Amino acid sequence: MKIMFIGDVVGSPGRNVLKEYLPKLKGKYRPDFTVVNGENAAGGKGINEKIYHEIKEAGADVITLGNHAWDKKEIFDFIDDAKDLVRPANFPSGTPGVGYVIKKVGNKSVAVINAQGRVFMNDNDCPFRKLESIVDEVRGKASMIFIDFHAEATSEKQAVGWFLDGQVTAVVGTHTHVQTADERILPNGTAYISDAGMTGPYDGILGMDREVIINRFLTNLPARFEVAKGREQCNGVIIDVDPSSGMSKSIKRISINEDRPFFD
Ligand SMILES: [Fe+2]
Ligand SMILES: [Fe+2]
Repeated sequence: MKIMFIGDVVGSPGRNVLKEYLPKLKGKYRPDFTVVNGENAAGGKGINEKIYHEIKEAGADVITLGNHAWDKKEIFDFIDDAKDLVRPANFPSGTPGVGYVIKKVGNKSVAVINAQGRVFMNDNDCPFRKLESIVDEVRGKASMIFIDFHAEATSEKQAVGWFLDGQVTAVVGTHTHVQTADERILPNGTAYISDAGMTGPYDGILGMDREVIINRFLTNLPARFEVAKGREQCNGVIIDVDPSSGMSKSIKRISINEDRPFFD
């Protein structure tokens, strides 16, 4: 059983890459289930209903979010009807949308949970305790549990990975937009990577136009960030899962750009 995850899709370049590469990646890796982080899919910030459907049609089974979840106000019009959209579970209670979904994969079920870190980010509910209670809740209902942990600090991400080792199928980090090379299977069977990376512009800064960002660093003046143009990249991971135990056998990085060939 294979689960594919694609890191934060940034703007129209990211969506174009997704439409081009998702079919190719599915052809190569034959995933049974695909999760895509869409928090930056609309103009680099947030998501709207049209783009939600666009990413679904490109091949995503479930779309996860993060700190940019609410940046496009249209989300409030459709999030409660979007059955395959998950926002961080540890947002304050009363927040629209859901923090996890359970989906059928063949004769098995997979729970997809999204949570957000608190180090250098908004002070949401404790992600550790929230994840622990959701994992308890879904354990009897889903044989596989996939977590997109959207966080800034590698320490907090590693802590979540070790905290849940042996209890969940995978803890995959997102948010920094920079893929880390620390993918591994933890001793009790949880697949882990600190950050899956970003899908979108290759020559920007975290997907945004680099001139604007450099100028911001040089001057400290407010600036309007724009999605970068030009060459593109696709980042993610493919995880091989033992469906009987729900634990992972391998995790492999997907990192496609002009400096790295598509298929290694
Ligand atoms: Fe992001
Ligand atoms: Fe983020």
